[in-house]
Amino acid sequence: MELNDIIQARRSVRRYRPVLVEREKILQCLEAARLAPSACNGQPWQFIVVDDAELKNRLAGEAFSGIYAGTRFAGRAPVLIALVADPDWLPKIGGAIRKTDFHLIDIGIAGEHFVLKAAELGLGTCWLGWFDETKAKKVLKLPAGKKIEIMLAVGYPQDSPIPPRRRKALGEICTFSSSGQQPQ
Ligand SMILES: Cc1cc2nc3c(=O)[nH]c(=O)nc-3n(C[C@H](O)[C@H](O)[C@H](O)COP(=O)(O)O)c2cc1C
Repeated sequence: MELNDIIQARRSVRRYRPVLVEREKILQCLEAARLAPSACNGQPWQFIVVDDAELKNRLAGEAFSGIYAGTRFAGRAPVLIALVADPDWLPKIGGAIRKTDFHLIDIGIAGEHFVLKAAELGLGTCWLGWFDETKAKKVLKLPAGKKIEIMLAVGYPQDSPIPPRRRKALGEICTFSSSGQQPQ
């Protein structure tokens, strides 16, 4: 699959087939994430793959409860992945000076590497930002200093219609400093 085809194919999947995802495919996605760039090469990420039904159901039951119940669909994915921040001191200092959380940018890039590789392998994913982090952390027995920044649901997609992609037009999101002519 060409990169452009993968980018076109990737959509947020919220309905999953009840079949297991092969460990080999998850490993390929993790390898794609591992190769992502990061500020000062800090690689400030841990991927906690929850792929056994008992723990995954317990995690989903807790994390997608109360005001987070809108994310319950993700509990039907066979795999949930918690992305935990593990920032290094150098990008942390740089980030404090710049007032930019570099580790969040890094995790986003690595996560999207994962997601695009998953799309290439025929897997559906959905980024999950809306979950009860305190409860999720308890289920996963993470220490107080760690934070689950974001989660991913992963599984084979159901054949169900996905709404058309809504995006701003290019003209709304970019500017060029030149008129587009080649330099003389
Ligand atoms: C950081 C982030 C957090 C997200 N959190 C959620 C979420 O909690 N629940 C959900 O259903 N979708 C979530 N999404 C998916 C977005 O809604 C989706 O990417 C967007 O609507 C565009 O649709 P597409 O991914 O199909 O192109 C999230 C996406 C990102 C990047």
